[in-house]
Amino acid sequence: MKFFVDTAEVADIRSLAAAGLVDGVTTNPSLVAKSGRDFKEVIAEICAITPGPVSAEVTATDAAGMIAEGKVLRAIAPNVAVKVPLTEAGLVACRTLAGEGAMVNVTLCFSPAQALLAAKAGATFISPFVGRLDDISTDGMRLIADIVQIYRNYPALKTEVLVASVRHPIHLIEAAKMGAHVATLPPNVIRMLLKHPLTDRGLEAFLADWQKTGQSIL
Ligand code: E4P
Repeated sequence: MKFFVDTAEVADIRSLAAAGLVDGVTTNPSLVAKSGRDFKEVIAEICAITPGPVSAEVTATDAAGMIAEGKVLRAIAPNVAVKVPLTEAGLVACRTLAGEGAMVNVTLCFSPAQALLAAKAGATFISPFVGRLDDISTDGMRLIADIVQIYRNYPALKTEVLVASVRHPIHLIEAAKMGAHVATLPPNVIRMLLKHPLTDRGLEAFLADWQKTGQSIL
């Protein structure tokens, strides 16, 4: 399973990349606003850190505008994936940009039917939002299971399932068991995956015992 990092914070991306945990990055307008950075500048910086896909989202709402913005974003670096919303205009833009060789991430997916349409439009990635469905008392992980099953039924569809709006490790583990291709994870969720109290306790005990030996390795 590929791990994308869901952030526009360059320092987080750098440190997670050093641990081999970054196969790509996703951003959205809210994450860019939170970073306080210039959009194109921060995307260029992220693209230089990871060779994997870096999603940069359009903000036009009509197809022509999305296509024009997509071309500008693609010119930033070859690993930019243009992110478009799951609207009819977004699918037109997806089809056009994908036809020109762009990677396209279709975002704001909340139903299996929407995911099927995005795949037919040639999306490279479909981004179903599990956490936001959970927030309205709907089973977000059920959506992932449905999309994975539907895509498997039609091997000609090459779209990868990119699990988004991930809030905790259980989302990630369930998605991996279902066979989703990618999960995009906020840095704090990646750090949650890392932590286990028995690891901390075990390390503490080993170090205390090592002290008693009076030895040093270097
Ligand atoms: C990623 O592509 C999405 O924009 C992101 O995962 C949304 O997460 P949120 O629901 O926590 O804002």
